[in-house]
Amino acid sequence: MRLPFRRRAKSVAALDIGASSIKYVRLDRRAEGFALAAAGIRELPIEALVSDEIKDRDAVIFNIQGLLDQCDPRTTDVVVSISGHGVITDKFEVDQKSGSEAEQAILFEAEQRSPFDVDDVSMDYHVLRTDDARGKMEVLLVAARREIVMEYLNLLRDAGLRTPVVDTDAFAVLNAYSINYDIDPDRVTALINIGFDTTNVVFLKDGIYHSTRDISSGGRVIYEVIQREFRLNQEMTMKVIRGELEGTVDHDMLRATIRSAADELLTGLEVAFSYFKTLAKTDAVDWIVLSGGGALIPFLPESVQSKLNVPIEIANPLRNIEYDPDLFGELEPEKIAPVLAVGVGLAAREVY
Ligand SMILES: Nc1ncnc2c1ncn2[C@@H]1O[C@H](COP(=O)(O)OP(=O)(O)OP(=O)(O)O)[C@@H](O)[C@H]1O
Ligand SMILES: [Mg+2]
Repeated sequence: MRLPFRRRAKSVAALDIGASSIKYVRLDRRAEGFALAAAGIRELPIEALVSDEIKDRDAVIFNIQGLLDQCDPRTTDVVVSISGHGVITDKFEVDQKSGSEAEQAILFEAEQRSPFDVDDVSMDYHVLRTDDARGKMEVLLVAARREIVMEYLNLLRDAGLRTPVVDTDAFAVLNAYSINYDIDPDRVTALINIGFDTTNVVFLKDGIYHSTRDISSGGRVIYEVIQREFRLNQEMTMKVIRGELEGTVDHDMLRATIRSAADELLTGLEVAFSYFKTLAKTDAVDWIVLSGGGALIPFLPESVQSKLNVPIEIANPLRNIEYDPDLFGELEPEKIAPVLAVGVGLAAREVY
């Protein structure tokens, strides 16, 4: 419930706690739009966080604090997100109502549908569209397993941070897209955010959100296969993936290795696409917008494009955002921007 006297925050900070790295983004609201006030990325030890499961709590806290000390030491409140198994989303119609009556109707419908017990989840909903002629409204329900949400909130509290909002990766990706691009109503679009353990897919149809799916695969498999095939340590493997060791490993062999390591992910995407096409009664997805670190892994975007046979664009979540390139230190913002999609989407949320 929004209280009328509460002011909208002028600057919102977000932490995208990923399995391979933590991303920090703070966005100021200006009359003309958003301006980047701070940003930073810090890698996590490879086993500290696996598929949203916190394995080494101290390492995660240590790295969150390290990242904040480095790029925005005065931050106290951060918006965060979860994804994967902890989240379910559903879309349904209820009779048009407002206020607490609407909430009750949505809760009732949710109870009939959710595979989780309503007592075990935290829920949020958005009204996607209203159909006045039929007196119905289309509602998007987002339910997150309370246990997982609490684990993150407790961790952030121990890192000295408050968390005004917990969102999901998929909706953050959607938000980042909508503030930077015009959504073409004639083009069925898939936003694909390739992470380390989770890949979020968001489908847009008729100019609005249609559905989302999280696939349990991403860059970790590629990392492991490269490490094994080329017999490299963690640091060297990361360098190969970031393209910093050109010439050290054979180009063709690297392409073949990545292509075959990505097989599980590509198959997962194919299944998600065909499921979507049946559900949405559509023949084709016209366009893919790729984000996440996976958009930067060599040969991966072309593998996605050829497997799904859909044209691809690499997302630039900083497209409509004003920023000082010096904020990024040695990193080149246009090169790493796709990694910031979730962080930007979270920091662009309205927070009261
Ligand atoms: N600059 C880069 N160049 C090439 N690959 C990169 C780059 N940055 C990240 N990656 C790779 O992209 C993959 C996904 O990175 P990303 O930061 O999106 O995942 P994450 O958010 O940490 O994980 P998850 O969302 O699954 O929890 C990783 O395998 C990482 O090695
Ligand atoms: Mg991620």
